[in-house]
Amino acid sequence: MEFHVITLFPEMFESPFRGGMVGRAIEQGIIVVKPHSLRPFGLGNYKQVDDQPYGGGSGMVMRPEPIASAIDAVKAEHPNLWRILMTPQGAPLTQHKVRELASRTPGLLLLAGRYEGVDERVRAMVDEEISIGDYVLSGGELPAMVLIEAVARMQPGVLGNAESVIEESFSSDLLEYPQYTRPEEFRGARVPEILLSGDHGKIRAWREAQARKRTAERRPDLLGRRRP
Ligand code: ADE
Repeated sequence: MEFHVITLFPEMFESPFRGGMVGRAIEQGIIVVKPHSLRPFGLGNYKQVDDQPYGGGSGMVMRPEPIASAIDAVKAEHPNLWRILMTPQGAPLTQHKVRELASRTPGLLLLAGRYEGVDERVRAMVDEEISIGDYVLSGGELPAMVLIEAVARMQPGVLGNAESVIEESFSSDLLEYPQYTRPEEFRGARVPEILLSGDHGKIRAWREAQARKRTAERRPDLLGRRRP
């Protein structure tokens, strides 16, 4: 699966994807992450990409022409990418949405705008708009990276263990149960006996009950939308 990003800061995409699971998936050719600089598509000698808002106000707004040219250029080489504008005004990025995006072959074209905004006419150039949460960042680059990380790890072969995708938090709309590793006792806190019992049926039931309890305490909103 391919992830293309139109951005004013392509260098931001270098180190975050060098290590970890996504880095390995890139090395193995399972995924491709390719930033495309918006700057060369800017207007005039100064390669201008933004301008003052009509009607006044603070901040700059990204002009539509450079973005349209950049999208056309990427499209010419990589047709059929699903186009997404990263914006706080978009639909929330949930695990459900992540799974949906993971099936959008051959890949995604993410548009990382600046937070003051892009010209309204840019909205017509994308297939959907996505927000990574109800807070504001200065640009769409980090949100694009968050989306890439979440979608990339759903690709077959990226995670070591296919089961871990299924068991994870939010995939079943429950938070994760408490996990323990060695030692059996740490500063007076013992690992729950049941986990040492070797009784896999009981362990599964305990984990399920713990996951429900934790979800009820911390994220009751998730229980409401849980599928039976
Ligand atoms: N750009 C700025 N803030 C954002 C957010 N929360 N989600 C997506 N894109 C953004």
